[in-house]
Amino acid sequence: KYEIRVIVLSSTILGVFFFALLFNVFSRKIDVPTCIPYNASFQKSEVRKVDEDYYEVYVTARMWNFDPGEIIVPRGSTVDFYLTSADVVHGFNIERKGVNLMAVPGAVNKTTVKFDEYGEYRIVCHEYCGVGHQNMMGRVLVT
Ligand code: CUA
Repeated sequence: KYEIRVIVLSSTILGVFFFALLFNVFSRKIDVPTCIPYNASFQKSEVRKVDEDYYEVYVTARMWNFDPGEIIVPRGSTVDFYLTSADVVHGFNIERKGVNLMAVPGAVNKTTVKFDEYGEYRIVCHEYCGVGHQNMMGRVLVT
């Protein structure tokens, strides 16, 4: 029966993908973004200082900007980014940091980034979201 072969084949492929995911997470310590159900922990868009070198940043993406658009943290800071969207799906890519998140309405995605060097890191939306897409950006300033 062809059906059986197709099922076995697709299950095998799925298994390989799943194994590759686990392999990356555990052996190569690649950070897989955490998806958190939307809840009261995300109350408003803000940069919240937890400690001298530890910040939480709550970002809302919407057509066509990020709120807050400018995030300023001191060098050496560890930043937890919590990301959501007020309208459609947007992207959230921090240059030179390998951050690649989706801003999804009704959900919060989280990732952690350490900023060890001074400078400006642009944030760009890398998910097509309408006519203003190419102008949708923000930045992190490490001072
Ligand atoms: Cu937002 Cu593209």
